[in-house]
Amino acid sequence: MSNIIAVVNHKGGTGKTTTAINLAAGLTRYSDVTSSCLVIDMDPHGSATSTLLGKLDGEPPARSIFDVLRRAITPQDGVASTIYDENIDILPANPSLESMAKTQINDRLSKVVGSLATSYGWIIIDTPPNLGVLTQNALVAADYALIPTQCSGLAVPTLRQMKELIEKIQERQNVWLRLLGVLITQKDGRTPLQKPVRRELGQVFGAADVFKTIITNNIKIEEAPANSQSIYAYDSGCLGASLYRDWIKKEFLKKHQKLEKKKVETKEAAELAKEKEG
Ligand SMILES: Nc1ncnc2c1ncn2[C@@H]1O[C@H](COP(=O)(O)OP(=O)(O)O)[C@@H](O)[C@H]1O
Ligand SMILES: [Mg+2]
Repeated sequence: MSNIIAVVNHKGGTGKTTTAINLAAGLTRYSDVTSSCLVIDMDPHGSATSTLLGKLDGEPPARSIFDVLRRAITPQDGVASTIYDENIDILPANPSLESMAKTQINDRLSKVVGSLATSYGWIIIDTPPNLGVLTQNALVAADYALIPTQCSGLAVPTLRQMKELIEKIQERQNVWLRLLGVLITQKDGRTPLQKPVRRELGQVFGAADVFKTIITNNIKIEEAPANSQSIYAYDSGCLGASLYRDWIKKEFLKKHQKLEKKKVETKEAAELAKEKEG
């Protein structure tokens, strides 16, 4: 099974971190795959790190993905338990990670992920709001890219750049990278823009790659991280919890399963062709 998901969008505030951490918590609850999950925070800003470690005003973690990527510590030594969820561990971020954005780290994250993958059912990678080295490394290390975007027409044209980056990485460094889908988030009840936004997204990515579920604005989604809790732990009955829960159960897991099946078939066909050649 390939269960490494990079949550990407080079625009800030599109719901990457929110989706990454609630996806992780949802997968530990609703997925059949072993329930443990690792979150890797590749954003030097460290929002996922503060929420999962419960250090909302505190010091950045002493050991982080920065030390792992510069090979000062092993990946295993960088991993920390979270107060967020007993089944979720984190490889936290530290502001020093920013310095890595200027270094060629190629496939270092991929190697880190490779050495941790067997210990977890899922690995979710949160990324910074740019198309730089850290986001690229996440896409090189991932099996799937997941793109949360705001429900606004203005957000769509810039996403062509993200599509191009994904294609470039598929061609050069990670042939098995696939787009899992685009998730529309933070829809405001007052703006009836949903249809044109969905249509435009469909034109860029293909209609089948835009999830039907739309995560609306919900105050509980914003409040939960301040309590270091997932939306399900904070208020399992609220709209935000049911939207994320339904998306994971009815769309995310099914799409993942479908793409996995396709991947296996493609790999088998490639091997068969190779055998024939040889
Ligand atoms: N569905 C939602 N309803 C209400 N607030 C949200 C929702 N999704 C995200 N937010 C809030 O919007 C802000 C930006 O979201 P975040 O996930 O941090 O974006 P990114 O990681 O892409 O920069 C955060 O304050 C977050 O709590
Ligand atoms: Mg973020």
